[in-house]
Amino acid sequence: MCGIFGYVGKRDNGLELVVKGLQKLEYRGYDSWGVATELSGELFIKKQVGKISEAKLEDFADKKTGLAIGHTRWATHGGVTDINAHPHFSSDKKVAVVHNGIIENYEEIREELGRGNFISDTDTEVIPQLISKYLKEMSFKEAVQKTVQRLSGRYAIVAIAVGENLLIAARRGSPLIVGVGEEEYFLASDIPAFLEYTQNVNYLDDNEMVILDGNVEFLNIDTGTAIKKRLVNIDWKAESADKGEYDHYMLKEIMEQKDSILRAINQNTDDIMHIAQMIKDSRGCFLSGCGTAGKVCMAAEYFFSIIAGRHVNYAPASEFPIFHHFLKPESLLIVVSQSGETADVLEAMEAAKGKGAKVLSIVNVESSTIARQSDFSLHIKAGPEKAVASTKAATAQMALFLLITTAMKGELQEGRRILAEVASRTNDMLNPRFLNYIKEVTQKIKGHDNLYIIGKAENYPMALEAAIKIQEVSYVHAEGFAAGELKHGPIALITEGTPCISMIANDEVKSDVINNTIELKARGAHIIGISPDKHEVFDEWIKVPDVGVASPLVNIIPVQLLAYYLGVLRGLDPDMPRNLAKSVTVK
Ligand code: F6R
Repeated sequence: MCGIFGYVGKRDNGLELVVKGLQKLEYRGYDSWGVATELSGELFIKKQVGKISEAKLEDFADKKTGLAIGHTRWATHGGVTDINAHPHFSSDKKVAVVHNGIIENYEEIREELGRGNFISDTDTEVIPQLISKYLKEMSFKEAVQKTVQRLSGRYAIVAIAVGENLLIAARRGSPLIVGVGEEEYFLASDIPAFLEYTQNVNYLDDNEMVILDGNVEFLNIDTGTAIKKRLVNIDWKAESADKGEYDHYMLKEIMEQKDSILRAINQNTDDIMHIAQMIKDSRGCFLSGCGTAGKVCMAAEYFFSIIAGRHVNYAPASEFPIFHHFLKPESLLIVVSQSGETADVLEAMEAAKGKGAKVLSIVNVESSTIARQSDFSLHIKAGPEKAVASTKAATAQMALFLLITTAMKGELQEGRRILAEVASRTNDMLNPRFLNYIKEVTQKIKGHDNLYIIGKAENYPMALEAAIKIQEVSYVHAEGFAAGELKHGPIALITEGTPCISMIANDEVKSDVINNTIELKARGAHIIGISPDKHEVFDEWIKVPDVGVASPLVNIIPVQLLAYYLGVLRGLDPDMPRNLAKSVTVK
């Protein structure tokens, strides 16, 4: 939610650099944007409604500065207007701030400072106003520290003040990373934003502040004590975070799945065995995540049952804390998150830790908050995922659960063999003819407003995931059902020509799903069968490889493509669905 970028250093095109950095963070928010710096002893602020990708670098070419901040917004408090866009500034125009998160006690601070002094509807505006108030009595550093000590909620902020040639940032609950270059520093919500300048980073942790001028100084917000940080080298290539030859990140990331699934095989054996043992040793094992990651957890429930013969419970992270009654010190919570920053997941973890339970996380962003707050964390190594719709992270997460569950059964090598086959057959499947065929199928259904998906066993969660993909990038009403549940209500929705996707594997429930598909067809549905084998009930057959229990990994890929093409054919930008952002750092 919202992207932040800050620069201080040797270059004099700080504003251009911040705009370019924000453009790489656009996936975090794209309803408005803004930048701020000091020019000729005064605050310069430009902010407006619109996408940061539409900002023109040449507008900033004549504004020379080696220090600037910027923000791309996903609105929470206050509508999408120029005034509500960040940076926000103090009434005396001495302090400007960008912020990601939510300040929960902003009403009380507004009251204290006088409501008439505020010009926006945001929670953020209290921050520069408070800093400016304190700045009259103390140094900039002390003023920021005193301000953030008063804030409740989750936040990452960066502040500048007139006459102070430095950036001050603070975090609690929202991500912020320091990029360390030669005679220059970057601050961003996510690493790819500054990857072309440096691969060396310091992670800012909760309750920490950083002061950046020519040097870097970390300190604890509450005590003011200095903190020593480890410099971490990130081995992502800058180009791996770019679109390359593709029109959209979503398509690029779908196509990368052959590699990302394969990378799961190279996970360290000791780590996988350690996790398998943690699960075996636990008394009460739970799975949690949000959205797509939650559907991965549901698929994992089936892997645990079918492969490892173990019962594991899933609850969406936003619901998980309600089940705290069942948690004990011997319990284990496994959380799944691409970004590693999702607020609901962090709350689920807090609930588990509150009962003394252990937390294992499976994340795509190494050293993310979730990873660092876990007892053990496994990095899925899918590479940067920029499209809002999660694709390659989801299949890589499922691949890891396949490895973990086969390891629990004492058959890790077999798990690796299955995944090698999935990766190679995914590579074969993702050929231009296959993509064209999916596009043709999509053309036929693009005018429909409702679409239903069914699946059974490990493909039931994929039916739910398929619905998420279609909803978020095409805005078509899509719903997934357990195939056997149709006759208990949803079948009433089917009329002549209603497109229905049936996700089938060559498993013991195949004939049940075929029968349910025949029931749909009998009510007039237009059937799109995703299956290794052709069946006469299908109006369209999307052939997928037969990979046994790993079928969710290959069955979801054609739906990812179908959702992508549906979005494109309906004139939408699949990378930037309305109302959504990549990393959901608010509750
Ligand atoms: C949908 C999607 C979301 C995320 C969810 C959790 O395509 O991407 O549903 O899966 O917001 O995000 P992470 O995995 O970052 O915790």
